[in-house]
Amino acid sequence: MSIAHEIRHARRAVALTGAGISAESGLGTFRGKDGLWSRYDPASVASIESFTQDPRKFWEFAREIGWSFLTAKPNAAHMALAELEDMKRIDCVITQNIDGLHQRAGSKRVIEVHGSIGQVACTKCTATYETAKAVDQLVRQDVPTCERCGGSLKPQVVLFGEMIPKKTLDQAFKKLKSADLFLAVGTSLEVYPAASFPEAAKKSGAKIVSINMERTRWDDLCDYRVSGPAGEILPRIVQAIKISF
Ligand code: OAD
Repeated sequence: MSIAHEIRHARRAVALTGAGISAESGLGTFRGKDGLWSRYDPASVASIESFTQDPRKFWEFAREIGWSFLTAKPNAAHMALAELEDMKRIDCVITQNIDGLHQRAGSKRVIEVHGSIGQVACTKCTATYETAKAVDQLVRQDVPTCERCGGSLKPQVVLFGEMIPKKTLDQAFKKLKSADLFLAVGTSLEVYPAASFPEAAKKSGAKIVSINMERTRWDDLCDYRVSGPAGEILPRIVQAIKISF
């Protein structure tokens, strides 16, 4: 059996993606020697506690790394997942990424468990704005603020210490419970609740497939594991499925 064969015959395959799928779009991953968290301390720049204490610190960090997020383009791996959805070979993508690259590649059913950089919300009155508005303010001042009430704006992403919205998590677990194949791409699965997703899928009888550059601590759960860049491997899988139709 091959991964292509498994995906070809799955009735409800669900993909889970992490920062590794966007690495070939030029975005850094979080862990490892060159990871973002080796240069920044997440507790001081990306936690809700630090944001509440001093939003300026968060926005300085966002100013440093934000441009690469806003200008990144989807790569062959994002395209391949969008194509698999089009071919009705995967049901949806659950992603921990906030970069919006799955949607830009054409994926329609995307569950963003850590939110998205597409919008910002006022921490005081909850008004929401397109991120472009915050970017305009960011080049003129330190902290983007709400034009209605003056409160500080925060991207609609889940910071450390923040809860994932219940509705989003329920949606994700519903998909995992009905999945017969779980395809993880480019994630170390060090962060909960995503770290519990492979087990949840396995419990429901799903086959577990992983495409990742390096070994992860949940590799033992996998039925199939491929080591290498997602941007090369996923298009090859799509080709193999097309040939077999
Ligand atoms: P990590 O940085 O923890 O893991 C990325 C994984 O992708 C690693 O195992 C790499 O080996 C692998 N990888 C790198 N390049 C790859 C490529 N081209 N093809 C395939 N695999 C590749 O990132 P995540 O697992 O996404 O949360 O991290 C999860 C969460 O931790 C993030 O959403 C973020 C972070 O703290 C928050 O900010 C709340």
